[in-house]
Amino acid sequence: MEQSQQCFGTTKSGEKVTIFRLANSKGSYVELLDYGCTIRALAVPDKDGKLVDVVLGYDHLAQYQDEDGYLGAAVGRHANRIGKGIFTLGGKEYRLAVNNGANHLHGGICGFDCYRWEHRLFDDGITFSRFSPDGEEGYPGNLRVSVTYRLTEANALEITYEAVSDADTVVNLTNHSYFNLEGAGNILGHQLQLFARQYTENDSGCLPTGVILPVEGTPMEFETAKELGQDIATKWGQVQQFGGYDHNFVLAGTGLRPAAVLHAPGTGITMATSTTMPGVQLYTSNSLSPRRGKAGAWYDAHHGVCLETQFFPNAMACQNFPSPVLVAGVPYKHQTIYQFTVKP
Ligand code: BGC
Repeated sequence: MEQSQQCFGTTKSGEKVTIFRLANSKGSYVELLDYGCTIRALAVPDKDGKLVDVVLGYDHLAQYQDEDGYLGAAVGRHANRIGKGIFTLGGKEYRLAVNNGANHLHGGICGFDCYRWEHRLFDDGITFSRFSPDGEEGYPGNLRVSVTYRLTEANALEITYEAVSDADTVVNLTNHSYFNLEGAGNILGHQLQLFARQYTENDSGCLPTGVILPVEGTPMEFETAKELGQDIATKWGQVQQFGGYDHNFVLAGTGLRPAAVLHAPGTGITMATSTTMPGVQLYTSNSLSPRRGKAGAWYDAHHGVCLETQFFPNAMACQNFPSPVLVAGVPYKHQTIYQFTVKP
């Protein structure tokens, strides 16, 4: 494993940001920023052995600070939406920062994505950690949180999320990488398989209503691999109203198990995702506004696909969803693995 690091700029508040590169002996590499624990680049070989960078990202720190979309970042304390930013825990009502219409999204106005984290390098990986104080964005409990990235010799990127709080709180951590296994252009020709028979219905604000519905016979059916573009322009309400997919899928089983398989026919790159989390948000970058990305690349809607492993959004308001409550002193530990292979 080769490791290197260099300065990636200075934040507006004067903090120096470092970019780390971890490379395995196959030449695959990941570039990580201590700002937001962000995956800036992830390069894996295609069917001809040529390296392809499969995530969207920026060349300049200012873009990470100014642009929306959470490109490659770790999001928390609670990924995705909490209705009106309100939840009740232990008989007490908490009001979080509201930053998405009336709702709380991806940890609030300044979520985990917009902090510089501490780091510790080890043999084949790096651990980023930070202290999220009681009351940050309205959340209860002092939280010590860490995100560990490991790049294996077998071309897997393993992400381990750990946290502990001194008071009961909610924690739901994920990574917001936009994958494009072709390396450029749109993702409509990517084939996706999801290990999910159900999804959570959204209201018009993209907030789960609490209703869990079968995917069968609908555009949400990905049990057998199909092209992302096949049904994306459907007139079927759940998908049409968001201009594509922006839904939480209910993953079958528990423990570390397969969640999704994404494949790009052009490069032959396949990404198998497995996770310990109960759900995965399929987001086809419907609202990614046009912008300049790495090395002059042009990004637009549907140029990346996010597979955000998570507790279901709005779970505090939906009794039938798995609970994202983290009890004081009890360790939080979850893992998501993105395994890359090629099909000739
Ligand atoms: C959400 C989308 C949102 C995107 C970028 C996704 O996780 O589900 O609704 O637009 O993140 O913020």
